[in-house]
Amino acid sequence: MRGKRVLVTGGTGGIGMETARGLARLGAHVIVVGRDARRAEDGVEKTFAVNVLAPFTLTRSLVPLLGAGAPARVINITGGIPRGPIDLGDLQGEKRYLGWTFSQYNHTKVIMMAMSLTLAERVAGSGITVNVAYPGHASTPGNRALPVRAFPLAYRPVAPLVRLLGPVLLADVGKAARSSVHLASSPRWRASPAGTSTPTAGPPPGRPRPWTSATGRPSGSCARG
Ligand SMILES: NC(=O)c1ccc[n+]([C@@H]2O[C@H](COP(=O)([O-])OP(=O)(O)OC[C@H]3O[C@@H](n4cnc5c(N)ncnc54)[C@H](OP(=O)(O)O)[C@@H]3O)[C@@H](O)[C@H]2O)c1
Repeated sequence: MRGKRVLVTGGTGGIGMETARGLARLGAHVIVVGRDARRAEDGVEKTFAVNVLAPFTLTRSLVPLLGAGAPARVINITGGIPRGPIDLGDLQGEKRYLGWTFSQYNHTKVIMMAMSLTLAERVAGSGITVNVAYPGHASTPGNRALPVRAFPLAYRPVAPLVRLLGPVLLADVGKAARSSVHLASSPRWRASPAGTSTPTAGPPPGRPRPWTSATGRPSGSCARG
């Protein structure tokens, strides 16, 4: 990664920080972006803002720069249980908001994955790829700070125990950052005609897309890291 510049969002803690460290160890010049708490109060539902609007807006604004420095890779991080239909009429959980852990978190991660694929298609051929990594689970500042009300009702009585055992039961953060570090740095990946990444050797590790189209029919497949 020597000579490469990497911009890491959420790099002041958790998986983002480990990703930044991992890429710096590989020799990359890493730029960490922090949040501006004042500007975060924008009237948009927070999970949707963080998981979808922020990566979309940032990536779009960086496309000219990324194109000028191509080949370039965008890595978005999914999480939770990202499957099920995208409800275009409920992007901010206006109709159904079951709390962070289940509904809105998973929904926004699915939307982010679909958004990543659309962005990938738009930049296809430019030398930029848009990719999604799944980190697994790790004990991070974010999930350690989860309030009990963020847990599904059935788990709330044991939520304090789950939080206590989190650091023991969950993978260490370095392990969770492996997929993002790998996708950002490995020479094993090259641009596919669809704007996503495909292995330089061997068959593409395709799997069904985890969302269904508006018609409810599963649609195609996507690459995984
Ligand atoms: N941890 C897991 O088990 C797990 C599992 C699957 C997927 N993921 C995904 O991996 C990514 C990182 O997760 P994590 O557990 O490492 O998260 P985290 O502990 O909350 O990450 C900390 C980083 O995110 C920033 N951040 C937190 N809330 C923010 C907000 N509302 N707006 C802007 N920045 C914010 C923090 O900034 P400050 O320093 O300013 O607080 C810090 O840089 C997320 O996309 C998450 O969905 C995590």
